[in-house]
Amino acid sequence: MEQIFSTFPLVFFFLFFIYSTPTLSQSPAPAPGPPGPPDIIAILQKARQYTTFIRLLKTTQVADQLNTQLSKSNQGLTIFAPTDAAFTSLKPGTLNSLTDQQKVELIQFHVVSLFFSISQFQTASNPLRTQVGNDEQFPLNVTATGNQVNITTDMVNATVANTVYTDNLLAVYQVDKVLLPHGLFVPPPPAPAPVKPEKQATSNSSPSDDTARVDTSGGIHLSQHAIRAMSSLIFVLAAFCF
Ligand SMILES: *[C@@H]1O[C@H](CO)[C@@H](O)[C@H](O)[C@H]1NC(C)=O
Ligand SMILES: *[C@@H]1O[C@H](CO)[C@@H](O)[C@H](O)[C@H]1NC(C)=O
Ligand SMILES: *[C@@H]1O[C@H](CO)[C@@H](O)[C@H](O)[C@H]1NC(C)=O
Repeated sequence: MEQIFSTFPLVFFFLFFIYSTPTLSQSPAPAPGPPGPPDIIAILQKARQYTTFIRLLKTTQVADQLNTQLSKSNQGLTIFAPTDAAFTSLKPGTLNSLTDQQKVELIQFHVVSLFFSISQFQTASNPLRTQVGNDEQFPLNVTATGNQVNITTDMVNATVANTVYTDNLLAVYQVDKVLLPHGLFVPPPPAPAPVKPEKQATSNSSPSDDTARVDTSGGIHLSQHAIRAMSSLIFVLAAFCF
């Protein structure tokens, strides 16, 4: 009996510990958390004069990427937002000449993967790392003295005209020009399939020789057949493995 009484407080303490532990670990969670990361589109809409930039942020889905990044990263982001006037003063057809992928790159080029206050630009190391990456074709430099911040790409000199929004995670600055990088206007390498020149070579070397042509196509047929057989074999094997 005495033993039971003497262990009872211990058991009680143990139970208390077990019960209180989850409560203790939970208690910091419901703390009145921050109101969530700022929404980039909402910030720009409120500031007006960014309808083109907003449209591009949405259609390229870069806005979603950025909002996701903001909620995860603690490095923050700096966005250079060109005004509608900046887009209007582009050479006509500039935007239309871009592919969808290039539009994504153009918008990503306006976003630096780090938070910069105006004064921090003075010590920034050039070129800045934008969301496009690839500093060679997409260089973005800043020079700053006091509150004057200039931005240079290899095609455009622009000026930071205004602070649209800033906290310690996100900074949005108004820029007076669309930041065009040279990399967007480099003609894409001639990608088309390497089959074409081969065909040309065959027809050039024997333009009238029908048997040769038949032989060649027969060879191609065989190899395609072999490839197909191989791939279905691999498929069956894979099906077995999984
Ligand atoms: C920014 O550019 C302007 C001309 O557009 C120039 O007068 C000024 O000195 C430049 N400032 C810096 C910090 O480069
Ligand atoms: C940007 O700055 C780097 C480093 O100072 C320099 O090498 C490069 O030429 C600059 N590019 C442009 C476009 O100003
Ligand atoms: C940008 O400014 C630099 C120096 O001020 C000048 O050499 C360059 O030509 C300018 N580039 C453009 C595209 O205006």
